[in-house]
Amino acid sequence: MKLGFIGCGVISTAHLEGLEELKRAGKETFELTAVCDLKAERAEAFAAEAEKRMGSRPEVYTDYRRMLEEAGLDAVSVLLDHDLHHTVAEDCFAAGIHVQMQKPLAISPSFGRKMIADAARYGKVLTLAEPSVLGAGNVAMARAIRDGIIGSVYMIMDYATVTLGRKFFAGTAWRHMKGRAGAGWINDHGVHRTHFFTEVNGPIKEVFAYAEIFEKQLSNGETTIHPTGEDTSVTVFRFDNGGLGHWMCSTAAHGESTGGVWIYGSKGCFRPGQHASLENGQIMPMAGIIERYAPDVAENPFAHSYAELREAIVDGKPPISSAERGLEALGVVFAALESATIGQPVAVQDILLGHKHAYEDAVLEEMKTCKR
Ligand SMILES: NC(=O)c1ccc[n+]([C@@H]2O[C@H](COP(=O)([O-])OP(=O)(O)OC[C@H]3O[C@@H](n4cnc5c(N)ncnc54)[C@H](O)[C@@H]3O)[C@@H](O)[C@H]2O)c1
Repeated sequence: MKLGFIGCGVISTAHLEGLEELKRAGKETFELTAVCDLKAERAEAFAAEAEKRMGSRPEVYTDYRRMLEEAGLDAVSVLLDHDLHHTVAEDCFAAGIHVQMQKPLAISPSFGRKMIADAARYGKVLTLAEPSVLGAGNVAMARAIRDGIIGSVYMIMDYATVTLGRKFFAGTAWRHMKGRAGAGWINDHGVHRTHFFTEVNGPIKEVFAYAEIFEKQLSNGETTIHPTGEDTSVTVFRFDNGGLGHWMCSTAAHGESTGGVWIYGSKGCFRPGQHASLENGQIMPMAGIIERYAPDVAENPFAHSYAELREAIVDGKPPISSAERGLEALGVVFAALESATIGQPVAVQDILLGHKHAYEDAVLEEMKTCKR
């Protein structure tokens, strides 16, 4: 099947590596036949890299609509700024093309709902390439926890702070503007975390958060911005099954960054990517957990995302990283942002059903005026 990429920025090379891993493993995969970026030199350089890794050079476009019309694609991976996800997805569906979207599914929940409805209306597949729930390690962890190896989940603690030195995360200014990214890092990074929380322990019921913009100005020396997306958030939440969570992320740390995730259950603790420690003193290394729970899953999350996309198109198999689960993850992030806006706990269902939208309204307002 023929695949196209729209957007050849920061994350596109990781996707190429995923396709390369599938090819190396002799798995059925996609042929990357077309790539598109508004910046021609970026698309050309990416096409050259694709040729080096995959053995054939994709056609280069700078207008994605032309690519959709001319390239004869079966599927497209959309690797663009968040405010473009919903319009580009609809254009792909209307052109008869299946879509793999990058996280977050959409810039805000109402657009996520629209995308899922559009996919159904056009009868096309919409998956999400969410690496925190894909790849052998993450799949094995979720299956092992759901299988009860650490007992019932009592609490999840997740802390991530980065030191940007008042520059841009990943070199991209758009990530700090809510009219382009939906929020600050709590959306861009946070949606990885909320997707993973709900994957391992089911739906989150209610959220309370504080959020701040501590750094009022960011600059890379050439461009200076005044961020509208939060750079720091502290959140507590409760799962439907009673488990509790404490989650914090910040791009405003100075001097020292930190990161760590602990999942505590009634029989032990899971350290994602590392091991499970059980109350009897037993340490279960990840390798053994993968061997037991996900022996056939591709190691690389992006390789897995393309395997899932292909199976969804060819066999109608529901993907682990579905658009619906992506919307739920986005709903938890927006519940936190809503809570920080109105100063009260917020039920995730109120966000998913569109009953509460004070924060989302501010995003929609900024989308009208945000310069591209
Ligand atoms: N680990 C992950 O899963 C991960 C990591 C990074 C980014 N992402 C996601 O991937 C997406 C892209 O992020 P990025 O970091 O690569 O961004 P980026 O800004 O580096 O790249 C986006 C690219 O899209 C191009 N572009 C913008 N508008 C376009 C248009 N209309 N037509 C064609 N090209 C256009 C830009 O020129 C740029 O090269 C976002 O949704 C982001 O959240 C996911």
